Amino acid sequence: NWTMENFIDLAVQSIQEKVGNRKVLLGLSGGVDSSVVGVLLQKAIGDQLVCIFVDHGLLRKNEGDSVMATLEQFGLHIIRVDAKDRFLGKLAGVADPERKRKIIGNEFVYVFDDEASKLNGIDFLAQGTLYTDVIESGTDSAQTIKSHHNVGGLPEDMQFELIEPLNTLFKDEVRALGEALGMPHNIVWRQPFPGPGLAIRVLGEVTEEKLEIVRESDAILREVIAQRGLEKDVWQYFTVLPNVKSVGVMGDERTYDHMVGIRAITSIDGMTGEFAQLPWDVLQEISTRIVNEVAHVNRIVYDITGKPPATIEWE
Ligand code: XMP
Repeated sequence: NWTMENFIDLAVQSIQEKVGNRKVLLGLSGGVDSSVVGVLLQKAIGDQLVCIFVDHGLLRKNEGDSVMATLEQFGLHIIRVDAKDRFLGKLAGVADPERKRKIIGNEFVYVFDDEASKLNGIDFLAQGTLYTDVIESGTDSAQTIKSHHNVGGLPEDMQFELIEPLNTLFKDEVRALGEALGMPHNIVWRQPFPGPGLAIRVLGEVTEEKLEIVRESDAILREVIAQRGLEKDVWQYFTVLPNVKSVGVMGDERTYDHMVGIRAITSIDGMTGEFAQLPWDVLQEISTRIVNEVAHVNRIVYDITGKPPATIEWE
């Protein structure tokens, strides 16, 4: 793929010219865009790149460790901030979806700023802004740090210049770039995952116990979909905890436990979609495994609504 090789050479050269021997800070989310920016910058400026990965404790099973391991293999210097308690503390008692989103978005900025202010001599802030973000914002993105990015408001006494090496690319080009940089499939082809993470897949108040149910059931769902080779057929698939308990029976015992919902949807861009027509035996295997392997779950339902009228996420 000579086009991407070309792009890499040009990007590396222009980053080197711009940065010189100064330092760049990058906020990693674990998503495709910031990961690709990280690997590209590492290639261009090596040790002059410092990354901060805010782990809000709302990622999927093993996701934080796996992101760290993969990116460290590429030589990235990553400061991982374990901010789970901070996030869960702020979310305690909060049931409203939009309030949860707002709290998480704000806390992200606070944690990032706290860490960034401990660093000295940083001149640049890198971001995974895509061409679509540039068009949507309708302004010259070089001067704006957009709120939908996890890295939002910076302390006012910090003066950064922005570096946005992906701002001429579309999503599929970013994936191609990632592949040309030798990045693994699980990062380059990662399904969309919302910034607020599992907090919007536990409906209502978020607790560690409820997150555990979503994390474990989601891991089983993903494992079965991968084993059956269905990953590329479904746009997004995950489990949700609707916060509903119902009666069941296990052995001779009556149970009164949680219901887990499975969401699997086909889509081109996430704007509209249809529920995925997964084979019955696949759904059966997922259902049996979740009930058997995840404590406090006695019922599984499958979401058979498209978007619209439903949204992809349940909150
Ligand atoms: P909905 O649920 O609105 O989702 O049909 C469309 C796409 O957007 C993702 N999504 C989010 N992503 N922050 C994000 O970064 C959010 O608050 C958020 N809410 C939804 C969702 O996963 C789907 O891919």
